Amino acid sequence: MAKIPPGVGPRFPQVVVLFGATGDLARRKLLPGLFHLATAGFIPGCRIVGVSLDDLDAEGFRQSARGALDAFFSRKLSDDHWSAFAATLDYVPLSAGAGALRAAVLAAEQSLGAESRRLHYLSVPPSSALPAVRLLGEAGLVENARIIMEKPFGTDLASAVSLNQKLHEVFDEDRIFRIDHFLGKEPAQNILAFRFANGLFEPIWNRMFIDHVQIDVPETLGLGKRSGFYEQTGAYRDMVVTHLFQILAFMAMEPPTSLEPVPISEEKNKVFRSMLPVQPHDVVRGQYVGYRQEDGVDPESETETFIALKCFIDNWRWAGVPFFLRTGKKLAEGQRIISIAFREPPKSMFPPGSGVGAQGPDHLTFDLADASKMSLSFYGKRPGPGMRLDKLSLQFAMHDTGLIGEVLEAYERLILDAMRGDRTLFTTAEGIERLWQVSTLLLEAPPPVRLYQPGSWGPKSIHQLIAPHAWRLPFERAWRAPNPLGG
Ligand code: BG6
Repeated sequence: MAKIPPGVGPRFPQVVVLFGATGDLARRKLLPGLFHLATAGFIPGCRIVGVSLDDLDAEGFRQSARGALDAFFSRKLSDDHWSAFAATLDYVPLSAGAGALRAAVLAAEQSLGAESRRLHYLSVPPSSALPAVRLLGEAGLVENARIIMEKPFGTDLASAVSLNQKLHEVFDEDRIFRIDHFLGKEPAQNILAFRFANGLFEPIWNRMFIDHVQIDVPETLGLGKRSGFYEQTGAYRDMVVTHLFQILAFMAMEPPTSLEPVPISEEKNKVFRSMLPVQPHDVVRGQYVGYRQEDGVDPESETETFIALKCFIDNWRWAGVPFFLRTGKKLAEGQRIISIAFREPPKSMFPPGSGVGAQGPDHLTFDLADASKMSLSFYGKRPGPGMRLDKLSLQFAMHDTGLIGEVLEAYERLILDAMRGDRTLFTTAEGIERLWQVSTLLLEAPPPVRLYQPGSWGPKSIHQLIAPHAWRLPFERAWRAPNPLGG
């Protein structure tokens, strides 16, 4: 087993109370993630009490957890590790109430022997978040506890403000960890390293040199069993007001005074404060053909499974620079990119027909796939007589460095941070409320949904939204294949 460097894990053993323990996220990410953290030695000791509406006992939950690991654990699953992990699992159905939950948590703490801490993970839809918080209060499980809240945090400004107020009646803000798993992705953090550890790009990181920015996260995935949740949520609440805006903040923020939680949140929140309200006429909402026929979906549903929009950050650095965001389900490709288009030169001495400018502006592109990639495209001379220009590119793939090794997945990284009390990569009440505030006009008067074919890039009007520019995706040139031998 790899040796875990000191200071990476929490000091105390942890009792995790996992609400939504049989739900989609728990099965796909949280149980596999906790299994990895516990068995790889990141946590000095861990017990998990699952909670959900399902009427199971501890054995039933163990079977459900094993099924989840068989389906979604991406590393090798050894029987010894599984038996040890299974012995740390317990379960309390919601119907059993506060007394039963308290008894299970106290039993788990006792079995750990040493002093421990509580981590409550609310992997539940927004409407069930407060009832779960109340239950924790009633069960007397607030002391020595941190709480991880899943997005979306509320569904609009009023519900987010009320959720935060009621949360604060039970948990202090510094105990609340609002998780946004995009911030736990290595390439997202690499944006901070790239911007602030180098002198090269920061001087041109502003409206004088940057023409527009695209944050594009198309997914090929459909909804699977999540249509009930998604029908209430839609692409804007599921992806934009959460992940895409958080990534936008990393891309656009001023240098923080240090890489500590408060300075980073301060700078991100300044970006959110400077955002202009999203205008409904700057938004394209789409729905894939066939969505209304899915189980759990209203046959006349107006929920968007696709959204593209233009927004602005009205500060000295970014005034006038459009940020184009797009995401949706059942699209042609799964990608996560940020693409920064630079201004074109003011004059060209290249002869007509040379090809200058013919393939769009120079771009810096970050690929936020699990192993970061970056590319810088520029015009260069095509070898041969005369002056013919071509779009060329410098490409970097983290894969080629041989540095990747054992990387924690986003959820694993963030759960570990929460156990250690490190809030650097979590979002604040103020930031979230501001994001709902800039969303109000759109939520109150959303443009009608336009249908798109599964496997396409969304409704046709996305091209008008971005004109006279063009969407970077699909890429004209594929990324170069990473070197299979590494560095
Ligand atoms: C989740 C959304 O937060 O992020 C999903 O609820 C989406 O709808 C997912 O598919 C995308 O995350 P990732 O890490 O798979 O890109």
